[in-house]
Amino acid sequence: MTRVAVLVSGSGTNLQALIDATAQHEHPVHIAVVVCNRPGAPAIGRAQAAGIPVEVRSHRAFADRASYDQELVRTLEPYGVDWICCAGFMRILGPTLISAYDGHILNIHPSILPSFPGLNAQAQALAAGVRITGCTVHIVDAGVDTGQIVAQGVVPVHTNDTEDTLTARLLKMEHRAYTTVLRWVGDGTLQPGGQVAEGTVCSWSDV
Ligand code: GRF
Repeated sequence: MTRVAVLVSGSGTNLQALIDATAQHEHPVHIAVVVCNRPGAPAIGRAQAAGIPVEVRSHRAFADRASYDQELVRTLEPYGVDWICCAGFMRILGPTLISAYDGHILNIHPSILPSFPGLNAQAQALAAGVRITGCTVHIVDAGVDTGQIVAQGVVPVHTNDTEDTLTARLLKMEHRAYTTVLRWVGDGTLQPGGQVAEGTVCSWSDV
């Protein structure tokens, strides 16, 4: 069975979608551990409710990015995971972690990359006046939201949208995209590095 770690920082709705989806997969994926960098984040309770081990590692306890990165590698090691899913993990991963799981780290981002990378993607989309936006599941590389794109979903931007209404619409699409990609992890459709088999549907639209 494919073993996965999920890295979180916040509310954990994507984590919840992944937890719920793993129960239904034909080729099961086992969420072996959830790692959270924010003590008290609601995502922690979601993992605990599902009986998944949680490792809370605050980045504030570490002097620099590199030592926190090494701590993440040490934390994950005993769980023997094949893949890592970042699900609202608000830290940039460093080279130690990325090379330890080379091509096996996924992230979800609330825009159609390469548009609107980095923080506040929803606000960036509203400020740009785009009429559609969406989400992207991609492989994590050394850049910020630059890795190989695996799947994308498109949603409309309405003229009366606020950051909150757009975020809510995007989250539904995020859950759909990420759970599909997790299924691909389990059945081998997704190759390390982010390639998917020819003909695999990898985008959806609510427009
Ligand atoms: C999502 O919008 C995700 O794309 C972004 O952070 C948010 C996390 O939401 N990276 P949640 O914690 O999964 O509810």
